[in-house]
Amino acid sequence: MRVKVSICTGTTCYLMGGAHLLTFDEMLDPCTAQDVEIVGSHCLGLCNNEENGRPPFVKVNDHIIADATLNKVLDTVRAELGLEV
Ligand code: FES
Repeated sequence: MRVKVSICTGTTCYLMGGAHLLTFDEMLDPCTAQDVEIVGSHCLGLCNNEENGRPPFVKVNDHIIADATLNKVLDTVRAELGLEV
């Protein structure tokens, strides 16, 4: 896998909109999907410090996405894969 996507499923992120992020795999075309590993993660430890931004949080490789949306995650994954965003 070239890109690892960790979707926080901790309570804060889940309640702040993270639940629908778990459908992220549906946004990937089959070619892209084979290079992407998607995992649910316990609290990433980011939600208790305002400097990290607002939940929900998603990690794409080493990039932290605050206030994550499906489109933000997709753009970051595509950038990591060297695809046009
Ligand atoms: S619940 Fe997501 S970072 Fe804590």
